[in-house]
Amino acid sequence: MTYQIALIPGDGIGKEVLPEGVRVLRSLAEHYHFSMEFLEFPYSCEHYVRYGVMMPEDGIEQLKNFDAIFLGAVGSPEVPDHISLWGLLIPIRRGMQQYVNVRPVKLLPGICSPLANRHSDEIDFVIVRENNEGEYSEAGGRLYSGTDLEMAIQESVFTRMGVDRAVRFAFELACSRSAKKVASATKSNGIIHTMPFWDERFWAISKEFSQVTAEQYHIDILTAHFVKHPDWFDVVVASNLFGDILSDLGPAIAGSIGIAASANLNPEKKFPSMFEPVHGSAPDIVGKGIANPIGTLWSAQMMLDFLGEKQAAQDLMQAIETVTAKGILTPDLGGNAKTWEFTNQVLQLFG
Ligand code: NAD
Ligand code: IPM
Ligand code: MN
Repeated sequence: MTYQIALIPGDGIGKEVLPEGVRVLRSLAEHYHFSMEFLEFPYSCEHYVRYGVMMPEDGIEQLKNFDAIFLGAVGSPEVPDHISLWGLLIPIRRGMQQYVNVRPVKLLPGICSPLANRHSDEIDFVIVRENNEGEYSEAGGRLYSGTDLEMAIQESVFTRMGVDRAVRFAFELACSRSAKKVASATKSNGIIHTMPFWDERFWAISKEFSQVTAEQYHIDILTAHFVKHPDWFDVVVASNLFGDILSDLGPAIAGSIGIAASANLNPEKKFPSMFEPVHGSAPDIVGKGIANPIGTLWSAQMMLDFLGEKQAAQDLMQAIETVTAKGILTPDLGGNAKTWEFTNQVLQLFG
């Protein structure tokens, strides 16, 4: 089997961590007897500065025939963030109907949680983020720009199809896990239309899954529970914005944003899914060789799993955990390993 993989390193540390992921994928392909062909696309803020666009007009079209997209990070101080992200990352998520974003949170062996006395088995949950609609919407605009009457309007969009498919995905995922629990992030006490609708759909879908325990929390107290009781959570389903925020907080309690992985999935496989670390381009550490590659390697692991290379995926996760357990950690986790040193240690296990 030959998989065609589109690579988009993007900006900043995206260009440092993505090659680490590719090194590991190449080695695993050899070890497990499958093959991967990579084609790199230069879509980035640099591309924007040179050509005035983050990617060409047919950029999405060009990516459609790949089996998967592997992305580093997007964003640079030279280009306003809403231009760079709405010019590349968000159009791919939408254009490819990657309507769920799966973001695991796990305290890996050898990593110290900033929360006192927490052990590996107490922080192990998955955030399922609705990835195509919600608070991230183009509906709205500016009126009376530059005058005292200036205003900005931003509409949220929650559709029955969009909410149901994200919530259903979360319940199906919970069925495959031992705790079999789904917690919904809401804010129906303060947001009067969309969030009561979200809750209504959550409870309606929950009825299809009698073997799964369903619960809901308002987003404000949910953030507190992530800190005080991370062991309560198994699968957490959230709207686009709530899921975004929770998926930086989750990895923080598991050690660092640098370990966070994500899979932007089109579960029907009509279009390629996209795998990327949760973190951004980290301009503050770029060029130092200290970016944590775990988020990228774990995203590669999720790619292998989604493509059906189950053994390779399982062994890669095991290898990442073997290396963290040895205490080989980048500075964000309190260690002094360089990006490439961590990857080399992983590669050695497939030697
Ligand atoms: P960020 O994730 O880039 O960085 C936040 C902090 O975490 C920084 O101190 C950084 O050094 C650290 N960090 C992040 N990844 C790390 C890693 N792998 N190893 C060690 N430390 C790491 O978030 P930000 O500062 O809010 O955003 C910077 C830029 O990235 C902005 O342009 C933003 O829009 C963009 N961004 C892109 C994505 C994406 O492409 N998916 C995600 C988030 C932010
Ligand atoms: C993420 C990022 C993006 C998001 C930004 C960069 C648009 O924060 O993938 O978590 O909010 O989806
Ligand atoms: Mn984010």
